[in-house]
This record gives sequence, C-alpha cells and structure tokens, in this order.
Amino acid sequence: MNENWIAPSILSANFAKLGEDVDNVLKAGADVVHFDVMDNHFVPNLTIGPLVCEALKKHGVTAPIDVHLMIEPVDRIIPDFAKAGADIITFHPEASVHIDRTLQLIKDCGCKAGLVFNPGTPLHYLDYVMDKLDMILLMSVNPGFGGQSFIPSALDKLRQVRKKIDDSGLNIRLEIDGGVKTDNIRAIKEAGADTFVAGSAIFSQPDYKKVIDDMRAELAKAV
Ligand code: DX5
Ligand code: ZN
Repeated sequence: MNENWIAPSILSANFAKLGEDVDNVLKAGADVVHFDVMDNHFVPNLTIGPLVCEALKKHGVTAPIDVHLMIEPVDRIIPDFAKAGADIITFHPEASVHIDRTLQLIKDCGCKAGLVFNPGTPLHYLDYVMDKLDMILLMSVNPGFGGQSFIPSALDKLRQVRKKIDDSGLNIRLEIDGGVKTDNIRAIKEAGADTFVAGSAIFSQPDYKKVIDDMRAELAKAV
C-alpha cells in the first residue's frame, strides 16, 4: 500500500459497467475503492447498497472498499455491509443517535470505523471517541453529488484534525472528500490529509492512470 491513498469515488464511475470501470481504476494505480451510499433522506440523492458491494467483491475486487454512509439511520445496515465485504465503514455523527455504539458495532462486525464531518459540522464529536476511530473523513463539499467545487475552509479544518490525530498518537487516517483535483491535491496534503477521494477528477478523464500519476506527482511535491 502507498503512504498516500488515492480513493476513486465510484459515484462518478459508469454504473452500466461498474466492475470493469473499478478494475480499470485499480489497474491505473488507485489504492482503495470509495463507495458512496446515499438514501434520498440524509442527502438528496440515491445510490447503491450492500448488494453492489458484494457484487464487486464477487467480481474479484481485492482492494479495500471504503464505504461512506450518507444514510440515516445507520445501524441496521452496517452488518449487511460487513457481510458484503466492506473493509472501512464511515458514517456522519448527525445520522446516529449513539455514535459510540455505532462505532463499536462497525468494529464488532470486523471492519475499520470512521466518522465523517460535513463542512458545517463541528469537530467536538471527536472528543470522546478518538480511540475507536481508524479514519476521520472531512467533507470538502456538502454531500450528495459528485462534481462540486472544493470548499476552501476544509483546509483549516484538516489542519485542526491533523493536530488532534498527531497529539493523540493514534493510528488514524485523515481522508478528504469532495472537489479533489490534480491542481489542489498538494495543498490538501500539506494541510494534513493522507487519503484522497476523487470522483469526477478521475472518471471524467479517458486516461485514469494519467490523472492518478499526476496526482501522485503533486503529492510528492508536498512539504
Ligand atoms: C459526495 C461524495 C463524494 C463525491 C466526490 O457526496 O461523498 O465521494 O463522489 O466527487 P467529486 O470528487 O467529483 O467531488
Ligand atoms: Zn464520499
């Protein structure tokens, strides 16, 4: 595994030939598959569920599947995703009444667990659960759609979370999601992220490898 993870969001992939598209983006050098789950309730869009996750695993995808739940409530469906082969499951704290219990449920199901913060969501949700986190995901757009512009205040939030992770001494990945492109990935890395979701930036281009190589070249310049 690379130190910096590139996580293509399959929200922008071709759903009519999803297995092939995921194979191609992994062959192009992606590290994990970012799997966006929307319910037309917590966010105003509707996407894919455990059956599609299971289908990708059966198709032969061995890369980690990073399931980003934009649904409310979350607990009922978590065991289904674990059984379907999810490796990482993240959820939004607003979508669970019992955050600690949901994190524990994800871990009990054998998956890595994480919390997701919308642009307007305060970081205090981290205060008592840092020891249960494998990942913190900061949204740099309001969730629901691919192809939106990166909200610049996410950089300051990344710096704050990077400090919290470093101060804790815990092994927690810091992921960013929304509007990540070749021309801003270096600044995002410098603000503290180590896991980079990119949907439209990769899938809108004919040559996935070129985009991922260009992103890695930018990451290598980060100080
Ligand atoms: C937004 C999703 C993202 C989205 C990112 O709600 O969580 O993962 O697909 O898409 P881009 O990279 O196009 O902003
Ligand atoms: Zn996402």
